[in-house]
Amino acid sequence: MFRQAEWIGCNGMGEICPEFMREMAFESPVREATLFISAIGVYEAYLNGERIGDFVLAPGCTVYRERLQYQIYDVTPLMKKDNILTVTVGTGWHRGRISARSKQINQMPGAVIARLEVVLEDGRTQIIVTDGNWKVRKSRILFSDLYDGETYDASSPEDAYQEVKVLADLDKKQLIPQEGEKICEQERLKPVGYFVTPAGERVIDFGQNLAGYVEFHVKAKKGDKIVISHAEILDKDGNVYTENYRTARAKLTYICGEGEQVHKPHLVFYGFRYIRLDEYPGEPVPEDFTAIALYSDMKRTGHMECWHKGINRLFENTLWSQRSNFIDIPTDCPQRDERMGWTGDAQVFCRTASYNYHVEKFFEKWLADVRAEQYEDGMICDIVPNFWQMRRGSAAWGDVITILPWQMYLTYGHRTVLADNFEAMKKWVDYITGDSAVPYLWTCKEEEKKLWGKHYGDWLAQDAPYGSYVGATDVDLVASAFYANSVDILVRAGKILGKDMTEYEELYGNIVNAFRRTFHLETQTAHVLALQFGLAENREETAAGLARMIRENGNRLQTGFVGTPYLLHVLSENGYGNVAYDLLLQNAFPSWLYEVEHGATTIWEHWDGIRDDGTIWSKDMNSYNHYAYGCVMDWIYGVAGGIRTVEEYPGFEKVRICPLPDERLGWLDVSLETAYGVIRSKWSCKEGAEYKVRYEISTPVEAVVVIDGKEYQVGKGDYIFYGITPASCGSGSL
Ligand code: BGC
Repeated sequence: MFRQAEWIGCNGMGEICPEFMREMAFESPVREATLFISAIGVYEAYLNGERIGDFVLAPGCTVYRERLQYQIYDVTPLMKKDNILTVTVGTGWHRGRISARSKQINQMPGAVIARLEVVLEDGRTQIIVTDGNWKVRKSRILFSDLYDGETYDASSPEDAYQEVKVLADLDKKQLIPQEGEKICEQERLKPVGYFVTPAGERVIDFGQNLAGYVEFHVKAKKGDKIVISHAEILDKDGNVYTENYRTARAKLTYICGEGEQVHKPHLVFYGFRYIRLDEYPGEPVPEDFTAIALYSDMKRTGHMECWHKGINRLFENTLWSQRSNFIDIPTDCPQRDERMGWTGDAQVFCRTASYNYHVEKFFEKWLADVRAEQYEDGMICDIVPNFWQMRRGSAAWGDVITILPWQMYLTYGHRTVLADNFEAMKKWVDYITGDSAVPYLWTCKEEEKKLWGKHYGDWLAQDAPYGSYVGATDVDLVASAFYANSVDILVRAGKILGKDMTEYEELYGNIVNAFRRTFHLETQTAHVLALQFGLAENREETAAGLARMIRENGNRLQTGFVGTPYLLHVLSENGYGNVAYDLLLQNAFPSWLYEVEHGATTIWEHWDGIRDDGTIWSKDMNSYNHYAYGCVMDWIYGVAGGIRTVEEYPGFEKVRICPLPDERLGWLDVSLETAYGVIRSKWSCKEGAEYKVRYEISTPVEAVVVIDGKEYQVGKGDYIFYGITPASCGSGSL
């Protein structure tokens, strides 16, 4: 693809982003023009002053050592007879502070590679590639870093062009065509408030936490300075709180030109709800500001609404946390000095994510990166790309390699995702087998059980001992339970792919037995995992035990990252649907609605991100935009609304619809767009009327509908299922 092209860079521009330029003139009009382009860093390209494409932060985020995406743009409409192509390159993930610990990639020069194929009206083809014929100059972006923000100077005259540096030694073999979705600008939000805080800060509130940037319109004098800080929350006194960004400065600086002007950052993004105008000429007019959300271009597939406003808000919060953290890779959070592709967070949330949005392409691209970062011995890194050069593969984090492909298979029904990941799954499982001292369990030494030891355990659980992030559930129990689950998934995947899985089936049986012999179930999460992964010797007793613990704890959960995703599921599957609803509808701390009632517009990382008295839990580990606990939404889709995949017919080719109404939700309307059409499940509870619950279910595929424990077969075609319990149920064609 880039055969004749060379990487081109520049000499000594320090922190200033270089702008590469190529002039070209054609003898006859252009019939067709295609640009292939990539960069070391992130780029923004213009042809004759018009932005090429709408991919922000291209070429995206991958394991650059092996996989660097290039984009292909049809630039025909932008072509003229005389043309100027410019490409500005920022640091992005590749060279920014975010990957500073990956010296191998981070210390590479900012560079661009491109090939422009032009077909003229007279039939001739002309190829223009990056080479010594390009020029470079300092752009107006004086500084650009994903963590620290961007500085733009609109006041100074444009710099003169100089020679480029041809980087003939730089490899091209890592270049691959774009696999993921493009990242682009999505919602535009106007301020909902402007105020001055008790500390005298001028603050604009966009009413919604998000990832993206602010665009503003300003009338200014040349040289006037605008400095904007970003924040997710206000502290208890109503002042801007930024400590939870840790070392990420997240500033926007703009040096104005003369007169009216509009500006937005180019090669960075921020996580924020509020902005503070640290410096701003004159009195700001809120209408002049717009927050622009930025995320991967995924198609929305899931919808949910019910009578309960708090639950609707919780759903919105989940969507916003997904949007904010699906910027080419699934991240933990979009604001602080992290924004990493944490594998644990991704596996926790992937089911909900795949219902909310069509994320097959997004995750398959990232899974290729997960495989690229897998260690020789099979260990799966905790973050992908492994920008921190960590060598840790924690239970429930590394298990992303089994859980995520399996979920993609269930939601979308394509075996290829299993085939592509099977060897990596097997290596992971074999790695665990080889890593444990005790056969059929995954155990570790006492000193490895400490914080930042081998595993994260039930991360951020409420039963964590004071001062620790690791919940009270024995990390060996957690690790062994996930070991069992990964082997189980491996066996299922292998069978689907027609492989002999006898050896792993035996291994699974042995793990189950060893688990039962070894562990006592003491915490909520221990009960949850035993039930979810089929490890409980006596399901009934275990479920009753869990329900009792929750009741004794005032209908409150204590689970963290590991237990929470399955908590409501194991309750409702074992006859405790009412307890599951109690937890869902709990509004005292810790609970989902506690956050909602404390003003959350996204999902918090920690159950008590803001305490009842307004104080803040911790500045270290306290993101207000962390999707993990948003995983509760898959219970609403799959249990409350009851739309379930059937393993034998993945991708919703056939479906089981088994709603679980509860009058405290009033009514519920859930829908899921699948490859076969939209499946919709609605119910409403009405006390004292002629019916208790009214169901309306429409499905474009064959379905088994379960109402009050009775099964109804619904044939293929668009059906509506209308039921009144306990009196009658029926179905018919739409
Ligand atoms: C991240 C988490 C992540 C965890 C692992 C945190 O810093 O934000 O979401 O999974 O580390 O320990």
